Amino acid sequence: MKIGDKSYRSIWLNRDGWSVDIIDQTLLPHDLGIRTLKSVEDAAGAIRSMQVRGAPLIGATAAYGMALAMRTQADDGHIERAAGMLLATRPTAVNLRWALSRMTEMLHPLPPNERSDAAYELARFICDEDVDINASIGRHGHELITKMWQDRSGKSGAFNILTHCNAGWLATVDWGTALAPIYRAHDSGIPVHVWVDETRPRNQGAALTAWELKAHGVPHDVIVDNAGGHLMQHGLVDLCITGTDRTARNGDVCNKIGTYLKALAASDNTVPFYVALPGPTIDWDMADGVAGIPIEERDPGEVTEVQGRLASGETGMVKITPDGVTARNFAFDVTPARLVTGLITERGICSASEQGLISLYPEEGKKESR
Ligand code: MRU
Repeated sequence: MKIGDKSYRSIWLNRDGWSVDIIDQTLLPHDLGIRTLKSVEDAAGAIRSMQVRGAPLIGATAAYGMALAMRTQADDGHIERAAGMLLATRPTAVNLRWALSRMTEMLHPLPPNERSDAAYELARFICDEDVDINASIGRHGHELITKMWQDRSGKSGAFNILTHCNAGWLATVDWGTALAPIYRAHDSGIPVHVWVDETRPRNQGAALTAWELKAHGVPHDVIVDNAGGHLMQHGLVDLCITGTDRTARNGDVCNKIGTYLKALAASDNTVPFYVALPGPTIDWDMADGVAGIPIEERDPGEVTEVQGRLASGETGMVKITPDGVTARNFAFDVTPARLVTGLITERGICSASEQGLISLYPEEGKKESR
């Protein structure tokens, strides 16, 4: 997507042909900083510290992390060490495991002297594929918004979409998942307005989604996380769209903490609640998302302190709780399939159910039950 006149992806191969550039998302929205990753340790650190974040981008970064690892040492042991290091960075988004399995399964049969080139090639492919997938999610989601917009009888004003966290181009390689349909709808002339949940504690909505939407010129307002229910009760939300970090076989979706409460409020107010996802976010081995998806618990300091720009112009941390209080920081929750109106994938829209998913990914239905 563009920032000013310049097109960006969230990750790309440096001009030197081997190191990998990322947008350091911990500096946004106040500074646009690029960081260069030169080793698998750099890639793992960038995922762990959330300089890169969002399920598809985590997967893409891990793929390049494997390429950086193979460049220095390409024996079997190093494949396993590098993959293990990357897999241990964050537990919830399944795209990480997906990308690493794809890389290791391709690398192992190759002779060591061919592994580095092959790893770069597959990492590049995974990135390009992610862009195509998200563009396609955008097309299917755009059709949905267009239909809802046309069917909206007797209501004037903007078409209001609520989203949670950041599932935009920063969370993927480009386009985004939940935001891709919104960008397309806006570009096609539908007067979209986005309610952006701030998304405590790390404020991915306030910092990243608002930054993306502003750069693209999409009208939006940042709201506190608890405002969505009130807006839905008063007819001010036409549609909710979020992303997901892992979708279980039964259609349960795991996303940023607070998504479940939005889905409950949407259900109570008959507001359609859609989740946008690329195929690699589906965990076909996970039968029941609520019971089985591992939920990352992060540093409590993210709850007790907030990052922001100070009046001096410096970026800093501000303590918001009394000294010595304890906090817990659950980073994700699972929305049961029964609260999800539909899943927007690169292959079309389906119900949030095993049957719905298999109707779009029939090859998974043919595999033996796992
Ligand atoms: O902790 P984060 O910022 O990595 O969480 C990101 C999300 O929850 C996104 O909604 C999800 O990864 C979908 S991104 C297309």
